[in-house]
Amino acid sequence: MSSMNLIPVSTSDYRRLAKKRLPRNLFDYIDGGSYNETTLAANVQDFEKLRMKQSVLRDVENIDTTAQCLGETFSMPLGLAPIGLAGMMSRRAEVQAVKAAEKSGIPFCLSTVSICSLEEVAKAATKPFWFQLYMMRDRSYVKELLARAKAAGCKTLVFTVDLTVVGARYRDARNGMAGRLSTFAKFRAALEYPTHPKWLLDVAIKGKPHLFGNLEKLVPSARSLADFKDWVDSQFDPTCTWKDIEWLRSIWDGDLIIKGVLSPEDAKEAVASGADAIVVSNHGGRQLDGVSSSINMTPRIRDVVGDKTMIIMDGGVRSGQDIVKAVANGADFTLIGRAWIWALAARGQDGLEALLATFKSEMDVSMALTGVTNIANITSGVLDQY
Ligand code: FNR
Repeated sequence: MSSMNLIPVSTSDYRRLAKKRLPRNLFDYIDGGSYNETTLAANVQDFEKLRMKQSVLRDVENIDTTAQCLGETFSMPLGLAPIGLAGMMSRRAEVQAVKAAEKSGIPFCLSTVSICSLEEVAKAATKPFWFQLYMMRDRSYVKELLARAKAAGCKTLVFTVDLTVVGARYRDARNGMAGRLSTFAKFRAALEYPTHPKWLLDVAIKGKPHLFGNLEKLVPSARSLADFKDWVDSQFDPTCTWKDIEWLRSIWDGDLIIKGVLSPEDAKEAVASGADAIVVSNHGGRQLDGVSSSINMTPRIRDVVGDKTMIIMDGGVRSGQDIVKAVANGADFTLIGRAWIWALAARGQDGLEALLATFKSEMDVSMALTGVTNIANITSGVLDQY
């Protein structure tokens, strides 16, 4: 089928449309991973390698995909992961995303380095959303940011711990997203804008201001990504340790999720530090290339933390089947990163809502045909262990 006629259905359809819609540097920023992208590929391939076990004649008329996370009930065990710079991909993307998440009954997590501010998102939201924090050297700014998050109604803080230094992303370097551009490269990048007129109108013209809404005092513009990278390199704090969790706890009285745990040892530390939940994650294959996929690490982490700790996993979730596989592998909940921003870049809020409805119906069908009717019954038994 010609891509002109494509009605997007799956995550990969939205990816294809996003590729057409976005200037190359922005598409590559979303799509890419670090170094040779082996972990990025493994995140997806290791889901594909898992086989489900078909089970028939089990009365599956009433399927219930609802899932609990930190005391709240959601329509399925899925949330929207924090994505930096989302508002450069679709007009005021973080506002569209929080609305789509609410309509679909799932949580939305706002990134520290979002385009829309906490306050702009809060205005559009009718319920509390989650806020993600990167630790900055300037602790007084962190304190101020968390006070803003609280005032914006956030009750859940997602503290990301796997970006104390930034993994080199070769695509970004080639596109000048991670350093200085030569005059020729600048000229080539400028040519991308008129050749992507829908993005130009929707985001470049109507989607202003292009500021980091939560950091406007610190980083003046989201358009100079080289300046932004310099700021990240100088401000993100590599001296951070498990001790800082105590400090965070002293200034944040809501739920605390630690995101970016990938080893059983760190998972134990995270539980000991009093985290309410952990996100098993390798940052979508954007940090240390060569580490294991999140889906492969999830059962090993479940083994060491036991049943009491909430395990959220992300990396490579592209369908409702993947959510079922993640739960069968020991996760309580999952997040999607690229899938949601591809859908939003391609078709805005409607596109994202449609994709989330697809995920839900894929879960319904996967559960029916593996013979389970609720999330609690999704165990390793739904996977083919032969
Ligand atoms: C991210 N991720 C991320 N994580 C975070 O804690 N704060 C952030 O600002 C960002 N920004 C960001 C931008 C982009 C473009 C991507 C693709 C990812 C990581 C993200 O939250 C999540 O861990 C991964 O995206 C999960 O992998 P998948 O679903 O993209 O395969």
